[in-house]
Amino acid sequence: MQNHKRPPSSLIFIFGGSGDLNQRKLTPALYNLYIDSYMPEKFAIYGIGRSAYSDGDYRNHLLEGIQKYSRRKGEANGVWKAFSQQVCYLQMDAEDESAYVKISEIVKAKEKEFGEHPNVIFYMAVAPQLVPDIAKKLGPLNICADTKCTRIVVEKPFGHDLQSAHELNKLLGSMFDEEQIFRIDHYLGKETVQNILAFRFANALFEPIWNRNYIEYAQITAAEAVGVEGRGDYYEKSGALRDMVQNHILQLLCMIAMEAPVSFDANEIRNKKVDVLNAIRKIDHSEVQQFAVRGQYSEGWMHGEKVAGYREEKNVNTESGVDTFAAVKFYIDNWRWQGVPFYVRTGKRLHNKSTIITLQFRRAPHYAFPPEAADTWRPNRLTISIQPEMDIRVRFQAKRPGQTMTLSPVDMVFNYEQAYKEHEPEAYETLLLDVMEGNATLFMRADQVEAAWKIIMPILETWESRQPVDFPNYPPDSWGPEDAEALIARDGYNWVTLPSHE
Ligand code: BG6
Repeated sequence: MQNHKRPPSSLIFIFGGSGDLNQRKLTPALYNLYIDSYMPEKFAIYGIGRSAYSDGDYRNHLLEGIQKYSRRKGEANGVWKAFSQQVCYLQMDAEDESAYVKISEIVKAKEKEFGEHPNVIFYMAVAPQLVPDIAKKLGPLNICADTKCTRIVVEKPFGHDLQSAHELNKLLGSMFDEEQIFRIDHYLGKETVQNILAFRFANALFEPIWNRNYIEYAQITAAEAVGVEGRGDYYEKSGALRDMVQNHILQLLCMIAMEAPVSFDANEIRNKKVDVLNAIRKIDHSEVQQFAVRGQYSEGWMHGEKVAGYREEKNVNTESGVDTFAAVKFYIDNWRWQGVPFYVRTGKRLHNKSTIITLQFRRAPHYAFPPEAADTWRPNRLTISIQPEMDIRVRFQAKRPGQTMTLSPVDMVFNYEQAYKEHEPEAYETLLLDVMEGNATLFMRADQVEAAWKIIMPILETWESRQPVDFPNYPPDSWGPEDAEALIARDGYNWVTLPSHE
């Protein structure tokens, strides 16, 4: 047993309790927290759903998920029995207002059993269109008036566009205080993403050169090898720009571009991030073609296997104009970043899964070496690999051994697996623990979500108003459409991939 502070007693209701997200991510995360002694001394979890399950069948269904999807799989299952005793199923139609009384009754009963008032957490693991309706029915419950202990967790997508996000914020805000609302962006729970703050602000070495004077450009790639994985229904209403750029990628960009926080207070960090979003230069509708590229994958071959094109995927329109790839060039209009382009790209069915952030430094101001040394000379580059590789590498010039002054680029690498023995927790473990502790640092505030929508709205509107004529425009196992190469090549650069992915 490890000796650390546990969160206060918690009662967790998971709407969408019989669904995929719970089986794949939430329960495995809660179980891992339990194994690591991070669950409260007293807790109970209620999965809420329409399907019929006995508690026993429900627990078996969740155990299957752990065996399939947890980072620990079968390991440490000795404690499953004890954990699962605290997990129950509540069959309930979330649209039926009268059913909500059951929740109040459970809260009362648990209060008695625990001998104290626990945190009451409502987790919305449901289709986004159901969230407003459930929230409306939860709001009037007595328990929700307790702004200290009652919390609501909302998954992405948070709204479909700026207006719907604004309306959802307004609706939630009419029933809950901002401190009670936890909007999840699971990228923020990733260890390597949190480490960006440590890397930048716990070291004196990097911050002085972290600005327009030394950095020529920044890049973020979030590539996926998978297709839409049976989520055609959702993806047809989303697309890559909504699914990845509006949230995950803009959050990564904020971590790279934000000013140093004064403290680790949740609002202080979120203020600094929202400053970045507000400083991103608005792309005018007429400039979209110049700053953004969209793509869609065709059928083809992926690592030796024949795969369907996006338009052939289940629940996808055969003439769909939805983007499965998006690349955008942003500028941040502030003192630190004026004139430095931030290129971002994301897509499905790309060559490899890899999320990396690259900062390329300006060339040395004077080149004193003999001309023959210049051939392999490259600017310094810092690459932060978020996943699946987890490392940070700095590229610099070294003298090749020998009697001539020949230079070549080499990498200095920090690798998580080599440096630390501990296994990193999954993003959802970190985020669920934070919810129980009431720490909102890694969650999206209302103004952040809306600021992010504002940035991408002109691109979305322009794309939606003009059906693409060249779709599908990239084959599986590639790095996306040629136009994405042109977007960055116009400025004299190219997209960076890890050497292991070339
Ligand atoms: C989700 C998107 O938010 O992030 C998915 O809806 C995407 O389409 C996923 O596949 C990627 O997450 P990760 O953690 O695998 O990079």
